[in-house]
Amino acid sequence: MAFDIDMIKKVYATIVERVDKAREITGKPLTLSEKILYSHLWDGTATKAFVRGKDYVDFAPDRIACQDATAQMALLQFMQAGKTKVAVPTTVHCDHLIQAKVGATSDLQAAMNNSSEVFNFLESVSNKYGIGFWKPGAGIIHQVVLENYAFPGGMMIGTDSHTVNAGGLGMVAIGVGGADAVDVMAGMPWELKFPKLIGVKLTGKISGWTAPKDVILKVAGIVSAKGGTGAIVEYFGPGAIGLSCTGKGTICNMGAEIGATTSTFGYDESMERYLRATDRSDVADAANEVKEYLTGDAAVYANPEQYFDQVIEINLSELTPLLNGPFTPDLSTTVGSAMTKKAQENDWPMQVEWGLIGSCTNSSYEDLSRASSIAQQALDKGLKMKSELGINPGSEQVRYTAERDGILQVFEKLDAKIFTNACGPCIGQWARYSDPKNAPKNSIVHSFNRNFAKRADGNPNTHAFVASPEITAAIAISGRLDFNPITDKLINENGEEVMFDEPTGWELPPKGFEVKDNGFLAPEEDGSHVQITVNPDSERLELLTPFTPIGNEINGAKLLIKAFGKCTTDHISMAGPWLRFRGHLDNISNNCLIGAVNAYNMKTNFVKSQLDGEYDAVPKTARAYKAAGIYTIVVGDHNYGEGSSREHAAMEPRHLGVAAVLVKSFARIHETNLKKQGMLGLTFATETDYNLILEDDTFNFLDLNEFAPGKPLTIEAVHADGSKDIIVANHTYNQSQIEWYNEGSALNLIKKENGA
Ligand code: F3S
Repeated sequence: MAFDIDMIKKVYATIVERVDKAREITGKPLTLSEKILYSHLWDGTATKAFVRGKDYVDFAPDRIACQDATAQMALLQFMQAGKTKVAVPTTVHCDHLIQAKVGATSDLQAAMNNSSEVFNFLESVSNKYGIGFWKPGAGIIHQVVLENYAFPGGMMIGTDSHTVNAGGLGMVAIGVGGADAVDVMAGMPWELKFPKLIGVKLTGKISGWTAPKDVILKVAGIVSAKGGTGAIVEYFGPGAIGLSCTGKGTICNMGAEIGATTSTFGYDESMERYLRATDRSDVADAANEVKEYLTGDAAVYANPEQYFDQVIEINLSELTPLLNGPFTPDLSTTVGSAMTKKAQENDWPMQVEWGLIGSCTNSSYEDLSRASSIAQQALDKGLKMKSELGINPGSEQVRYTAERDGILQVFEKLDAKIFTNACGPCIGQWARYSDPKNAPKNSIVHSFNRNFAKRADGNPNTHAFVASPEITAAIAISGRLDFNPITDKLINENGEEVMFDEPTGWELPPKGFEVKDNGFLAPEEDGSHVQITVNPDSERLELLTPFTPIGNEINGAKLLIKAFGKCTTDHISMAGPWLRFRGHLDNISNNCLIGAVNAYNMKTNFVKSQLDGEYDAVPKTARAYKAAGIYTIVVGDHNYGEGSSREHAAMEPRHLGVAAVLVKSFARIHETNLKKQGMLGLTFATETDYNLILEDDTFNFLDLNEFAPGKPLTIEAVHADGSKDIIVANHTYNQSQIEWYNEGSALNLIKKENGA
């Protein structure tokens, strides 16, 4: 059995007391989101009410999930913590490193050939440290989590932004960076700013061609790609009851596309049905015992404006199928004539080349069955496919069951390609072109979540539109972007006009789910004997060496780069081809700060070395300083390190000998990541001091030996002509974070505390 019923029962045993106490302390009825947050406080039962959008709070998540791309560095770091087992149930899922090209069997074999060292590494680390391992081909992380681990009222984190999918089963599930996951794996709390709350009231009933996907496409159109930032979106109302559990998952999944912290739904019968169908009747029984604690209080839903920061109402009976895109998931257009007009105005290619069904967003049994009902009609009505069609089932359980029930065969009769149960085209793992950069302008429609330029196939000219699986199937069959299956006719092979009937399908397989090998490997009870081998010549994996403490004497440090303007985690640690090196700190450090603009020449990756006066790439210059035993300083502008929470953006400069990052202001997650890696993250007490920093400056830290919470640090900037400026630098280190600095990193401290 993959899931941990005892852990779930433990959560339910405390939820009643903790929620009742939180209600008393806040003096108001509670939303579901608040119930889950207050029942997962690190310190146990609440002693104060938290201010939404303001207070930072320590939480104790119930589970962790990692995908293969992000798990590499997370597990390499965890290995540094000196623990024998993960402190919280954790799983690793191999789904990102599998390319879609020919079809499942040969694509999976190709991935095994290309990435076996990564898969083997993840498998052996999982086995050693008590982590559940899902093999390549077992399925997409979030579908597998929904099928096996998600449970109403739970809290989980995952090293992937679409971890939020588990909100479909009533969880608060949040995507985090590897460093956060490692903390929780090592038994530390997880910190989050207490989120704001957006309530979405669903009325009416979904029917006909409209799907759960259209709910979130509509919400994205209303609130925009940033509209959910810092908030949990909580869905409720009579319309929510009529949605399937996997449909709720789809809606929560794409909450990531509006920037939401996460999204969730209250426990209801659809969730109970799903739990029972996925062999978790004991979870359903346990949830039923406390069900009023697994949804928002009635008084909240009766008067939502009073309890949410924002309320949106959508009448599902009036909702029509939507197509969102291209290039952004919040550009919403109703299918049909509205699209004709927009496509003509914007010169979007009307002919659709591909329809793709799958991704963690829409790859459930229900999704495949409804899309196949359209494919079956095409066969029955003599229609020929006008586009190509590709399918990625969400899990081996879904694939096996869909094959047993003849669903996949329907697609195959239309010459669709059945790809591996993996991310594939959703994350650019699609061998569509030999030279994507120079590929032609074209349109595709898919049931995925993200549609940024180049996301699916690397071609900047691909216009990707997001739709439900059934609309994707219909549009792919018609070959037209503005096809409206509700009103438009198609001409079949006999020259006759035909129309599609409404899609039909099954929420859950009528004969139940079935699978031969679900691809799960349980870890050994005692993994202490398991050897982890990493080839020292590997270019993709490298065991980490603990960072040496920088110490409280920094003198003679040199300026590495003064970054001008925006400097996001992408500028600090670029993605794209560099993802290949995520498990190899030294190799990936060759992308360190190569996207940052040098304030002295406005060029990227071109900085002066004070060692020889020459200009060169940032990583090369940093390595030369490091080899000479000289620390370096990075200076930056406002909101330095915004973007993703990837820990590489802090680990790389640390690895290359950067001692301090001194900026006008930080993105908080990046600031914390710098602290965790045992470096100094500082801000100018006087913002305009940024202008005092010159290209040939040398820095002396005058009072680092008095490093203490709330006490600014004093830095002497010595200019090339011998003149000096004194810079006062603020910091936000508390005492335990100063310990991280003193020990060289947070992990070094954990290791020390473990006596390892
Ligand atoms: Fe994979 Fe795409 Fe989901 S990359 S996890 S299928 S968003």
